[in-house]
Amino acid sequence: MKRTILTAALLAGVMSGAAWAQSAADAVAQRQAGFKAIAAATGDVKKVMDAGGDLATVAAKAEEVSAFAKRMPALFPAGSGTESGQKTRALAAIWQNKSDFDANAGMMASAADRLAVALKANDKTAATAAFGAMTGQCGACHRPYRAPQ
Ligand code: HEC
Repeated sequence: MKRTILTAALLAGVMSGAAWAQSAADAVAQRQAGFKAIAAATGDVKKVMDAGGDLATVAAKAEEVSAFAKRMPALFPAGSGTESGQKTRALAAIWQNKSDFDANAGMMASAADRLAVALKANDKTAATAAFGAMTGQCGACHRPYRAPQ
């Protein structure tokens, strides 16, 4: 009985070690792909706004940014920084200030939500303000939390 428990405990330890490495690799891959996608989505919104096009056609792009921003805290699990051996620009400062980091992502999500509403309503003034608030969070987060290339 004791031995079974010990074996189970050891096995669980080994498994969680492997799961840890796997989840770090997955998290890095998913967040990097996600950032590329939201950068493209943001560019698509800007193009239509600059061209004076029908804003409602890009409302889904803002929703995409919002959805990613809401997933962002979970895509930065502890141990998924450079110590994981992954190629990542995520700085250790993220995990030293995780609540500030998560709050930054939260502000981006709410700005993206406001942007989606404004785009659907074809309200250019509101869309411009929300777009500025949303993109302001990109730099506000990158400066303290992302390593320069
Ligand atoms: C709350 C923090 C935060 C916010 C907000 C944020 N980013 Fe980032 N971004 C990061 C971090 C950290 C990385 C590095 C991720 C990595 O390498 O693991 C990153 C990476 C990126 C990358 C590089 C992806 C790659 O590896 O190819 C792009 C592009 C990017 N962000 C665009 C944006 C844009 C555009 C916005 C705003 C619409 C934004 N980010 C908002 C933290 C943030």
